[in-house]
Amino acid sequence: MEPVCVADFERLAQERLEPGAFGYYAGGAGDELALAGNVEAWRRLRLRPRVLVDVSEVSTATTVLGTPVSMPLLVAPTAIQRLAHPDAEPGMARAAAAAGTLMCLSTLATATPAEVAAAAPDAPRWFQLYVFRDRGVTRSFVEQALEHGYGAIVLTVDAPRLGRRERDLRTGFRVPEEISVPSMAALGGWEGATPLELLGAIDPSLTWDDLAELRSFAPLPLVLKGIQTAEDAALAVEHGVDAIVVSNHGGRQLDAVAPTAELLPEVVQAVEGRIEVYVDGGVRRGSEVVKALALGARAVLAGRAPLWGLACDGEAGARRVLELLRDETELALALCGCASPDDVGPAHLTSSAAQGHGQSPRPRQHP
Ligand SMILES: Cc1cc2nc3c(=O)[nH]c(=O)nc-3n(C[C@H](O)[C@H](O)[C@H](O)COP(=O)(O)O)c2cc1C
Repeated sequence: MEPVCVADFERLAQERLEPGAFGYYAGGAGDELALAGNVEAWRRLRLRPRVLVDVSEVSTATTVLGTPVSMPLLVAPTAIQRLAHPDAEPGMARAAAAAGTLMCLSTLATATPAEVAAAAPDAPRWFQLYVFRDRGVTRSFVEQALEHGYGAIVLTVDAPRLGRRERDLRTGFRVPEEISVPSMAALGGWEGATPLELLGAIDPSLTWDDLAELRSFAPLPLVLKGIQTAEDAALAVEHGVDAIVVSNHGGRQLDAVAPTAELLPEVVQAVEGRIEVYVDGGVRRGSEVVKALALGARAVLAGRAPLWGLACDGEAGARRVLELLRDETELALALCGCASPDDVGPAHLTSSAAQGHGQSPRPRQHP
């Protein structure tokens, strides 16, 4: 049967992938409470639709850091996409471009920043950065991102160590020898590594004080990914960061954390509209994109959803998932009485979760 929603793509992907690869993509840390919590929290929120609004023309288009995108959903950075399909990151980049949205390339990609840029030269792209203990390699990847037109550096701050991924421990998952990860190759001798070995290259001593040095060799907008508290959101603003992603790494790091949908209001409140706030973790439906907007996010990032598409049918599958999420978002906007993402506000949610909302930096018209 043809997949008609993200959950269908996930089921199909499970049939097609090796158990080790599926477990690596699907799994979270520990008891997978954060993973399940993310998904559940979006589902629990309820929309409050307005009626008798002209929705003959609905646009999902918006901007992120000033860059136009077809919808408030971006492709999150996910490592080792070649495990899903030989189209890998270049295929994902073409899929994102076809769907009119932006892809964030992982440091742990199986294609170089140049190859991914060449796959979709006209599409916007960001580069997700892990700061390695080896600052020379870190710097060289930032330089490649600069040279190949990446529009922002997305520094992941929630992984000084790898979460305990028990599915990987059970399957004994290793990156297959024939799959090369250019950043790891640059570090030398990482073929066939486990995820724990890969992430072991990251510098766990990184602090807020290192951001200035990073900015000196990466003169691009800086996004921090993995913020989970109002305190850190406020520090990010103080340190001149351009945007933040409220994220718990899709439930793959610390298991005992709150779902991102629950954390979003306190972060939005702390930021007071000074920078853009994005959110990820557990988004599987376009209606959930609208819920995130109602809580004050500018956009969401989707990790596993486009990966399931890639696993099912390469670039074409990833494109179908992204277009499906765009269509679902458009329908949810129309049925909420919103002609565009800018029309969504806290009053579009029933939950008290919306109370912290209010300061996302975008124009609003509320009747
Ligand atoms: C298989 C997989 C690999 C990931 N690799 C990275 C990565 O290399 N860098 C990073 O910042 N986040 C990584 N993430 C986290 C995603 O960017 C994102 O935060 C998360 O997937 C969002 O949750 P969702 O999958 O429920 O949409 C990864 C997530 C998955 C599922």
